[in-house]
Amino acid sequence: MARLKVGVLISGRGSNLQALIDAASDPAYPAEIVLLISNRPEAPGIARAARAGIAHRTIAHPDRQVFAADADAALRQSGAELVALAGFMRILDTTFVDTWRDRLVNIHPALLPAFPGLHPQRQALAAGVRFSGCTVHFVRPEIDTGPIIAQAVVPVQAEDDEARLSARILAAEHLLYPMAVRLFAEGRLRIHGNTVTIEGAIAPDIAVFNPSQALASAGS
Ligand code: GRF
Repeated sequence: MARLKVGVLISGRGSNLQALIDAASDPAYPAEIVLLISNRPEAPGIARAARAGIAHRTIAHPDRQVFAADADAALRQSGAELVALAGFMRILDTTFVDTWRDRLVNIHPALLPAFPGLHPQRQALAAGVRFSGCTVHFVRPEIDTGPIIAQAVVPVQAEDDEARLSARILAAEHLLYPMAVRLFAEGRLRIHGNTVTIEGAIAPDIAVFNPSQALASAGS
C-alpha cells in the first residue's frame, strides 16, 4: 500500500506531531510523515522528528514570502501530498495557502468558528461555554477559517483554568488529528464550498447533554 506523504509544520512543543508520528508507526496507517519544518530552531518538536528518523528542517526566514517559498520548495522536494499545520504559529503567505489549497490542514483548540486566533481556551473560559473542543479544518487565507473536517467536543469543568482546559482539549487533539489525516489519506473527504462530507461516515448515536443539567436536577 502506498502511504500518503505528509509534511508537518510546527513552531513549538510538537505533541500533535508526536500523535501523528505514533499513528504512522503502524504500517497499516495510510499516511507517513516525510518532512518536518519548524520556523523556530529551538522548537522541542524537532527532536521528536529526529528521534523518529524523520527528515527535518528549520526555516526561520523573517520575511513571510521568502519563508513560504523555501517551505514550498522543501515540501515539493519531499514529495509531500498533504501539509499538516501542528502548532504552527506564523501566518502563512496567501500564495502558499492557494498553492496547497485543499491539501493543507490545521488543528485548532476550539470548536470553530468559535474562538479563532490566539488563546482560544482562555476565550472559551471567558465566554462561559459549557463545552469547547478542537477542530481540524482545511486552511483558507483568513486565520482559522476553512472547511471543517472533524471536531471533538470537550466539557468545561467548573474548576477549570486555562491550563486544565488546554490539557483536556489537547488529549482530544491527539486522537482527532491522526483520524482526520487518515480520512484524507483514504480519499474519503469531499469539499463542497465551505463544508466537507466524509464518505461512509456514520454520525455517532449518542445524546450529549450539558453537564450542569445533571447538577441542576440532582436534588429534584
Ligand atoms: C495545539 O493546541 C494546537 O491545536 C494549536 O497549538 C497547539 C500546539 O501544541 N494550534 P503542540 O505543539 O502540538 O503540542
